[in-house]
Amino acid sequence: MGKDNFYITTPIYYVNGKPHIGHAYTTILADVLTRYYRLLGVESYFLTGTDEHGSKIQEAAEKNGITPKEQCDATVARFIELWKKLEITNDDFIRTTEERHKIVVQKILQDLFDKGLIYKAEYKGWYCVPCERFFLEKDIVDGNLCPECKRPVKELVESNYFFKMSKYQDWLINYIKEHPDFIQPAFRANETLGFLRQPLSDLCISRPKARLSWGIELPFDNNYVCYVWFDALVNYISAIGYLSDEKKFKKWWPASFHLMAKDILTTHTVYWPIMLKAMGLEMPRTIFAHGWWLTDNEKMSKSLDNVVDPMSMSEKYGVDAFRYFLLAEMALGQDASFTEGGFIQRYNTDLANDLGNFLNRVTKFILKQDNPLIPKPSAKNEDDKEFIKEVLNAVNIMEDSIMNMRLNKGIEAVLGAVRAGNRYMEKTAPWKLVKEGNIERLNSVLYNAAEALRIISGLLYPVIPEKANVIRKSLGISDDKIVIDELKVWEKLAPGLKVFDTGVLFPRIELTEQKTEEKAKETKIVKESKEFKGTVDLITIDEFFKAKLKTAKVLTAEKVKNTEKLLKLTVQIGNESRQVVAGIAQYYTPESIIGKTIVVVSNLKPAKICGLESNGMLLAAKVDGQLKIVTIDGDVPSGASVG
Ligand code: MSP
Repeated sequence: MGKDNFYITTPIYYVNGKPHIGHAYTTILADVLTRYYRLLGVESYFLTGTDEHGSKIQEAAEKNGITPKEQCDATVARFIELWKKLEITNDDFIRTTEERHKIVVQKILQDLFDKGLIYKAEYKGWYCVPCERFFLEKDIVDGNLCPECKRPVKELVESNYFFKMSKYQDWLINYIKEHPDFIQPAFRANETLGFLRQPLSDLCISRPKARLSWGIELPFDNNYVCYVWFDALVNYISAIGYLSDEKKFKKWWPASFHLMAKDILTTHTVYWPIMLKAMGLEMPRTIFAHGWWLTDNEKMSKSLDNVVDPMSMSEKYGVDAFRYFLLAEMALGQDASFTEGGFIQRYNTDLANDLGNFLNRVTKFILKQDNPLIPKPSAKNEDDKEFIKEVLNAVNIMEDSIMNMRLNKGIEAVLGAVRAGNRYMEKTAPWKLVKEGNIERLNSVLYNAAEALRIISGLLYPVIPEKANVIRKSLGISDDKIVIDELKVWEKLAPGLKVFDTGVLFPRIELTEQKTEEKAKETKIVKESKEFKGTVDLITIDEFFKAKLKTAKVLTAEKVKNTEKLLKLTVQIGNESRQVVAGIAQYYTPESIIGKTIVVVSNLKPAKICGLESNGMLLAAKVDGQLKIVTIDGDVPSGASVG
């Protein structure tokens, strides 16, 4: 670490809309890591906050008919309320509209200006309002689209101030190459190095007030405000006392981790290190970019109206279950898909069936004894030893997974120990031991199972703090201080503690048919190509054109006997007529589809569906349990190529 404490940050979130699951994820991840470091006895500091300047916020305020400050205050309240609900234990919350931040940004700007690292020049560029970024002509896609978000950009010519970023390009390339931990996962470092292969432009760090007034004024020219990213990145040091409380700053800087998703990689791995270098400050130890939460393999965004609301999810299913799902489901670095069906399935399996059941079996059994106390163990047999080994191994795996940012692997190992616990109960069959009157063995079995639960609850505490405490309470543990080192030692649980019935830990959620179906179809981890270029699972145009899409006219249609879902169609594709079997009978009657011009994949290998040959597949969109066939706008003959 280079220093013996732990300082972690999340991005500071924009306040133009309410918080969503992506914001919740990064913040929960930071919280869980911080809680683990605290258990390891490492002094920790966890910072989150809000990014409140810039045109995004100004425009949202205008749209809502309020002032930018009112827009910020209202949205910040929602973030704070959500963090409280989600049991986030941040040490500080920084708002970029606070004086403590603004003063530091201005001091830095003045200092860089005095050093000749900021200069004024005329600038011609393309500006993307949603991304708050300027791009050069060469970066623009299809004439007028933003290379990042693919939305239209505006051309602008104006005088502005520039930060001499280009001066540090070679230094940054070398720094990244010499510090393998600096950008993680490693493929993100390669992505940054790829970006740095082209000449780096100087960064435009001002906006004329005539165009944008909502920002921090430049200390050397009051006609301008500071570019929002230059202002925002400074939060990581202004919050811990840079240029205001040097003792505090020295204690926490450099940061151990800057966490974020891949969408803001470049600003963190290029702009920020160069800003720090120009200020003469040390680099953060690790900049870690995780993947995206997707719905239906699309990034969640307000404009697509596919955003999962973390507040309602945690109200509906409980905070701990929500935290657990997010961390267990996402492999750090890769994208993951969120569906309610997938959530319920994992909840029922891991939390209700495995963990809840194990606790229930153990405590109920002890409570049935004359003396409902943690019993005293005696000699261990082979079954005990094997079980103990698996539980203690989970402690090591979990610790390792924290150090290597593979939290889902650690959680998996703990759940492995839980399952081993359920198997142990079955194998040792305490109910038989009671019948046989073998009290000594019974006591050993129940002790081992309870001791495993002490360790398991300790390991899961950072992820499910409230429920972990419930488990500890049911085992009679009153001390709420968990120490990782004590989880590595077997037989720390004191015999004689009074066991309590704390009720059902995670009540089962009954799955509706639709949600089960959703789960089967949609919850899959989306493996990401290492060649990531900004969206998920990119394919080349050649790959796309391998699928021959053609217009097809539906000539006949009939229901397939003894099935609910299938229609047998005859379609005309140019001069050819073909049979296609499609699962659309619940959404289209045969009459309603005859005569339509649809789109089919014409070069699919023939398949047998319920004994009928199908030669092609039609395209359809499925939303909220509705299915709509893709049709063609206007009069187009069958057999025309689509693409
Ligand atoms: N204000 C800037 C960050 C400045 S940091 C100096 C910003 N804000 S944001 O509100 O757009 O938040 C982006 C971050 O929110 C992502 O980097 C990630 O941490 C989190 N997420 C937002 N959407 C996400 C997903 N769909 N999935 C996972 N996390 C995402 O960018």
